[in-house]
Amino acid sequence: MKWHGLFLVAVILFLHSSVGEAQVKALLIDCGSNSSTHVDGRKWIGDTSPIENFTLSYPGIVASVAVVDGEPAYGSLYQTARFFDAPSTYNISVFPRTYFVRLHFFPFSFESFNANESAFDVSANGLKLLSAFNVPGEISWKNTKNSSNYSSLVKEYFVNVSSNQLAIIFVPKLGSFAFVNAIEIVSVIDQLFVDSVSKVGGNGLKANLNLDDWGMETMFRLNVGVPAVESSEDQDMWRKWESDEGYMFSVNAATTLSNTSSISYSNNGSFVAPLLVYETARTMTNNEVLEKHFNMSWKFDVDPNFDYLIRLHFCELIYDKPNQRLFKIYINNKTAAENYDVFVRAGGMNKAYHEDYVDSISQQTNTLWVQLGPDLLTSSSTTDALLNGMEIFKLSRNGNLAHATDRITIDQGGSTASPPKSKILWVIIGSGILSVIILSLVGAFIFCLYIRKKKAAVPAKETPPGWLPLSLHGAMGSTTNAQAYKSPSCVNGSLANRTGRRFTIAEIRSATNNFDDSLVIGTGGFGKVYKGETEEGTPVAIKRANPQSEQGLAEFETEIEMLSKLRHRHLVSMIGYCDEQNEMILVYEYMANGTLRSHLFGSVLPPLTWKQRLEACIGAARGLHYLHTGVERCIIHRDVKTTNILLDENFVAKMSDFGLSKTGPGLDHTHVSTAVKGSFGYLDPEYFRRQQLTQKSDVYSFGVVLFEVVCARSVINPTLPKDQINLAEWAIRWQRQHSLETIMDPHLEGSYSLESFKKFGEIAEKCLADEGKNRPTMGEVLWHLEYTLQLHEAYTENLSIESLSKSEVRFADMAISLPLVKEGEEASPDISRSN
Ligand SMILES: *[C@@H]1O[C@H](CO)[C@@H](O)[C@H](O)[C@H]1NC(C)=O
Ligand SMILES: *[C@@H]1O[C@H](CO)[C@@H](O)[C@H](O)[C@H]1NC(C)=O
Ligand SMILES: *[C@@H]1O[C@H](CO)[C@@H](O)[C@H](O)[C@H]1NC(C)=O
Ligand SMILES: *[C@@H]1O[C@H](CO)[C@@H](O)[C@H](O)[C@H]1NC(C)=O
Ligand SMILES: *[C@@H]1O[C@H](CO)[C@@H](O)[C@H](O)[C@H]1NC(C)=O
Ligand SMILES: *[C@@H]1O[C@H](CO)[C@@H](O)[C@H](O)[C@H]1NC(C)=O
Ligand SMILES: *[C@@H]1O[C@H](CO)[C@@H](O)[C@H](O)[C@H]1NC(C)=O
Ligand SMILES: *[C@@H]1O[C@H](CO)[C@@H](O)[C@H](O)[C@H]1NC(C)=O
Ligand SMILES: *[C@@H]1O[C@H](CO)[C@@H](O)[C@H](O)[C@H]1NC(C)=O
Ligand SMILES: *[C@@H]1O[C@H](CO)[C@@H](O)[C@H](O)[C@H]1NC(C)=O
Ligand SMILES: *[C@@H]1O[C@H](CO)[C@@H](O)[C@H](O)[C@H]1NC(C)=O
Repeated sequence: MKWHGLFLVAVILFLHSSVGEAQVKALLIDCGSNSSTHVDGRKWIGDTSPIENFTLSYPGIVASVAVVDGEPAYGSLYQTARFFDAPSTYNISVFPRTYFVRLHFFPFSFESFNANESAFDVSANGLKLLSAFNVPGEISWKNTKNSSNYSSLVKEYFVNVSSNQLAIIFVPKLGSFAFVNAIEIVSVIDQLFVDSVSKVGGNGLKANLNLDDWGMETMFRLNVGVPAVESSEDQDMWRKWESDEGYMFSVNAATTLSNTSSISYSNNGSFVAPLLVYETARTMTNNEVLEKHFNMSWKFDVDPNFDYLIRLHFCELIYDKPNQRLFKIYINNKTAAENYDVFVRAGGMNKAYHEDYVDSISQQTNTLWVQLGPDLLTSSSTTDALLNGMEIFKLSRNGNLAHATDRITIDQGGSTASPPKSKILWVIIGSGILSVIILSLVGAFIFCLYIRKKKAAVPAKETPPGWLPLSLHGAMGSTTNAQAYKSPSCVNGSLANRTGRRFTIAEIRSATNNFDDSLVIGTGGFGKVYKGETEEGTPVAIKRANPQSEQGLAEFETEIEMLSKLRHRHLVSMIGYCDEQNEMILVYEYMANGTLRSHLFGSVLPPLTWKQRLEACIGAARGLHYLHTGVERCIIHRDVKTTNILLDENFVAKMSDFGLSKTGPGLDHTHVSTAVKGSFGYLDPEYFRRQQLTQKSDVYSFGVVLFEVVCARSVINPTLPKDQINLAEWAIRWQRQHSLETIMDPHLEGSYSLESFKKFGEIAEKCLADEGKNRPTMGEVLWHLEYTLQLHEAYTENLSIESLSKSEVRFADMAISLPLVKEGEEASPDISRSN
């Protein structure tokens, strides 16, 4: 009773405080922390001291870790966690309504607990959210699916709370433990899910599902047409909208579109999605593609045996009259809508609009397809599709949202006692909401579906996940490489053009000791890189693409195509490849000294001297200069960073990793429009804003590399004070005050010439100019770096200033005749010194 009284006080307090701002209310808990923290602009309350808003039934173990690498946004939040070796409940007093419950997980080790080994169940007010959940398993599953490397995970649920308390229970599996880093409870605006929903394949039949009564899990929330919309940009409900690019089946089949002018909501639903989501879109319009007989397709991995709500967000940004864009919407290869005209549905141009669909995923599959494509019944000239955003929610079944851990192995027989699928949902609609007439329609329609399914049953065979055979790759639909639509010869020729030796898988296995993990010298989104040795005893680096990753396939193709064209002393060269047994393996020359980054910081390697640093930068600059000017159509690297600059046994620097590279603009264009890719911290802000790629984006990234070389710290370090987190911003401030040496790597102290150092800082500063047109070209950068090296050498050799100014002239002459290297030639115009 006593306890109850206390609890009531808490409820009243919470109610009281929530009356003021009727709409938005959030409770943010920083688990395992003894103070409150401000992260992403919000206040997160520590849970180690008693707080009125919630109680914790069993405290478990309060854990903390000193540094969190890689998740800048949530860095300090993820430094603490609670580990539970016995069941524990967060009892939170809330106002009865629906909430987004977000669970944040960032696995780390603490004392005898390694979060990687945790396994646990979570439920919220009886709704089962997670079952035998293993965080790293889920993270790596997500990462291999779209070749990213997230180290943390946020799970979002939609939970209806009809009482005054929300009880989130963590139950460790026998012999294991549970953990959580943060819990976020954000109230959902009432009207978010009130719309009627169309059943896919249901000929426009709509029903109100009373979604508030169901539990849901957010599976995907995408801003179509990049970039991501961060949770802080969606201040109603702090939803994060990822970029859709990683989920597109064939990114190049669609063009991105954006227009920020005067978009408004077609009804009162300003909370449905932030305007930013509607400002960007993808369309099929692509001048290179005349025949628009293809679909824009997105593919999602989902859990079998659940119903999914698919919410599509539209906004017509171009046409100001109807009938300009008519398309079909397919979900799971079934027609969800025909003759779809966004202008008509939304009631005009620049009107934000959304449409909800529901479909079931059977026990037999784990993919969900969303496709937009031509409506062949309408006049094909108006065929063009448009999509601005997309959300996919999993609906609970019998109070359960948790999937079995072995989600990948699909029960082929479907023998488990699964209740008749899809019916569950529709029986509820029938009994509760719709009239007898509709009910009979549903019946008829289920019957039709059944008939159709029977017909389709024979050919419905899923292609196994994994690599498509390479030769299929020129085919429409599976083509993902940059030039597919530009020059057909590239597509057909991609196999023939390949240079280098074709290795057998047996050779590769013997070279890598059967992919021995102890030989791994690097991992990336693409897969693992092994050190190996050919039969002749030549050391090689062997990059094995992760067969699960479709993104990887695209990058593999790009890389192999790029490298087949390129030969240069400052580009890592490809020795051969292996495509047997669906493997995608590239064999490169071995770079004995690893990445430039490893010689700058974060390892035990001896620090590089100033001269070595200058030479490494010059080498990389040469490689880039060759990419930009040495081939008939310039190539933009797109991922210039110190981990992609490798050093051979003589510390000669070479550029590597052409997976993201793009062929540059033709003569008549100044840029390539493309989705933003690259690495955080190195990304050209102008490219990010305008999504127009030029060589100057590489110049920007290279400027960041230069600062990294001077400061020897990572480009993003979330553990530092706010103004220091981003190296580019921090260093440029010092450089502008002409005091870059204040933040210089202390290892350089006393061993460099101040003059060359100053010059170096100026080059880096110029590279980081806000506007690409104000940045130097790579050729100019190279020239100035050479000069910097000369300054330094003059200093060390005590040369007189006069002889230097002579050499400056010499360089000026040479810069003009910077080489245009032909394909295949060893392009190493050693313009600096003749040693
Ligand atoms: C939690 O409780 C405190 C003290 O009663 C109150 O001031 C605060 O507004 C509550 N926090 C939330 C997020 O409701
Ligand atoms: C809070 O935790 C930090 C580290 O987790 C510790 O250094 C500090 O002393 C704690 N403060 C209190 C008041 O317990
Ligand atoms: C939390 O609430 C549940 C009822 O939902 C109750 O059984 C349990 O005792 C509460 N736990 C604590 C620690 O208050
Ligand atoms: C991604 O992986 C690379 C190599 O494994 C690592 O260096 C980098 O820090 C990772 N990035 C993030 C954001 O985790
Ligand atoms: C957990 O596993 C991942 C890879 O599976 C690894 O990168 C990470 O360091 C591990 N974390 C801990 C705390 O062991
Ligand atoms: C959901 O919430 C509403 C009102 O808050 C309530 O009437 C309804 O019964 C709840 N549904 C469930 C399944 O708890
Ligand atoms: C992978 O997914 C994450 C979110 O899970 C998304 O933000 C990212 O853009 C995707 N990566 C790629 C390479 O598409
Ligand atoms: C954006 O839309 C406005 C009309 O709303 C139009 O005038 C303008 O030309 C559009 N801009 C672009 C870049 O398409
Ligand atoms: C918009 O809100 C107004 C007032 O709250 C209401 O009268 C109107 O019906 C709403 N319109 C829609 C489309 O929901
Ligand atoms: C688009 O996708 C649907 C469903 O998968 C398919 O039936 C249709 O043939 C596709 N259209 C084109 C033009 O590829
Ligand atoms: C659905 O369409 C996609 C893309 O066209 C295709 O890869 C997939 O095999 C189709 N699935 C079925 C069951 O037909």
